[in-house]
Order: sequence, then structure tokens, then C-alpha cells
Amino acid sequence: MQSETFHIPVLSHEAIELLINEDIKEHILVDGTLGGGGYTKLICEKLNGYGTVISIDKDLNALEYSENMLKDLNCNIEFINGNFGELGSILKETGIEKVTGIVLDLGLSSYQLEAEDGFSFMKDTDLDMRAFKKEDLKASEVLNSYTKEELMDIFEKYGEIGNAERLVKAILLKRRNKKFRTTFDLNEVVNSEYSLNKKNQIDFLAKIYQALRIKVNNELKNLENVLMDSVEFVIKGGRIVIISYHSLEDRIVKNFFRDSASKHIKSDSPYGDEEKIPELKIITKKALVPSHTEIKTNSRSRSAKLRAAEII
Ligand SMILES: C[S@@+](CC[C@H](N)C(=O)[O-])C[C@H]1O[C@@H](n2cnc3c(N)ncnc32)[C@H](O)[C@@H]1O
Repeated sequence: MQSETFHIPVLSHEAIELLINEDIKEHILVDGTLGGGGYTKLICEKLNGYGTVISIDKDLNALEYSENMLKDLNCNIEFINGNFGELGSILKETGIEKVTGIVLDLGLSSYQLEAEDGFSFMKDTDLDMRAFKKEDLKASEVLNSYTKEELMDIFEKYGEIGNAERLVKAILLKRRNKKFRTTFDLNEVVNSEYSLNKKNQIDFLAKIYQALRIKVNNELKNLENVLMDSVEFVIKGGRIVIISYHSLEDRIVKNFFRDSASKHIKSDSPYGDEEKIPELKIITKKALVPSHTEIKTNSRSRSAKLRAAEII
């Protein structure tokens, strides 16, 4: 398979340029979202035979593809099938105490969207949506067993869908007769409940699929966890670079960077008010976005936002 088919890296040169602090002599860098190996490859080229890259992905297909693609590089890469939301335990298992930077290119690879079950509403596949097959919860189970309130919460919070009650009522009605099994079972609910033109239908389905995907893969919680871990495990001068693809993720990154970069009074401490000193400095005053040329050659990059910070 060609690397362009598996995934075209987004904002990759910008990300790796910001990730590697040239003042640090020996790097141990984490690529928490290996995917098609685009970022890891660039890191290796920059390190030029020195240092280590810990390349993590939940998805075994990504690991298999990238291990093969990167096998001839002169680079010390540790490939790990794991969840970046558990960075602390991953590092402990590898015997590494501190790293010199973390990069995360969130979301899905093109391969996952096109070839793995449940992610695309364009193809009739099993409603799975798990990037990590070690986890049990499939999207079909969410639709078949969650309560009305739980489903409304998912669609409102993760899909930012207004009037989610109408959608959820239609889902509950459908599952009474027949359990959800495939993507087209879900599409059918939208087709029969709403009369939308093609564009609105695609936008609506995209929101529904995004909401379920975030739930199934615990995406926002994993991001919050890794951000908290980053200030613990990245050394002074080390960088954190995050590329996100929707406002929910970008908001988490932006707020985390802002809070960690500011000196403020923490009133939630069990020991009373505590002064919190800044843990990082923000390097990207505004989020970086892809150039027109990049968007033209890779339309999937259009919603990308890159934010970077340095541990102080
Ligand atoms: C956009 S792709 C990364 C593409 C990569 N930067 C490249 O250049 O090919 C995102 C990857 O992150 C993985 N991923 C998403 N959430 C993850 C998590 N919590 N832990 C580990 N991998 C995750 C997905 O399985 C997917 O392969």
C-alpha cells in the first residue's frame, strides 16, 4: 500500500519543527498517534540516527503498516500498541522516566475512515468504530443499550446536535423492532425521520458519527489524560505539539495550555487556596492552520489546528 493511500500527514513539517527543541542534545520523543508513520518518519530524519522515538497507536493496522514502512530507517523506534491516554503506564513498561517531547495528530487515519468497520457512513459495515480492539464497547452497543438520556448527552455533547431528542426518539423506536447492527441501519433512521437535502444529510450524519466515535474511543478523556501526563513526563524545554480536527478537542488543548501557562490561585486544593506557578509557555500564540496549497492537495487537512507549548 502507498503511504498516500494509508494517510497523508497533515501539517507534518510544522509539527516536527516545533516538536524538536534543538537545544536538547539527546531526544526521547513520543509520537502518540503513529497512524501511517508520517510524523515518526520525519522525526527520525531530523534525529539523524540519534535518540529514540516511542511510536504509539491503538490500531494494529497502523502499527503493522508503519513498522514495515519504516523498517529501513536508521532510527531507534519503539512501536507500541496502546492508548496515549495511558502514557504513564506505557512509559513505565518501557522503563523510560522522562521524554523530551510529545506530538499528537488526533483523530483517524484515512485508512481507518475508508477501510475499518463503522467509521464511514458511506459504506455498509458493522457498526464497530473501535480503533482499539482490546476495548469492548462498539457503537452498535451504545445505540442498542444506552438510555434516552445517555444517548441525548452523547449527541448533544460530542456531536453538538441541537434537538437531539428527536434523533434519539427515532433511534429508540427503531431498536424496539430491530437491533442496530450496521452503519446503514443507523443511516436509515436519519433517512426516514428527516427530509434533508444531500449536503445537510451528509453534515448531519457526520455529526452523528463523530459523536459515537468520540464516545466509543473515549477520545476527549484520553486527550485530557495525556495533557496532564505531559507536564509530568516531559522535561524542561521539551515540547508538546497537538493537531486537532474539531472544536471540542481544540478547546481542551487551548484551555489546558492557557491554564498551565498562567499563574493563578487554585481554590480546589484540599489544603486551601494554593498559588499555581506556570508549568509551560505557549509557543503558538494562535493555532497554526494548513496553507491553501496543503488544503488543495489534501482536503482532509482543512479543519486541522496545531497548538504547541514548551515545558518550563
Ligand atoms: C490522524 S492519524 C495519525 C497520522 C500520522 N500522524 C501520520 O502522519 O500518518 C491518528 C492515529 O491516531 C490513533 N489514535 C487515536 N487515538 C489514539 C489513542 N488514544 N491512543 C493511541 N492512538 C490513537 C488512530 O488509531 C490513528 O491511527
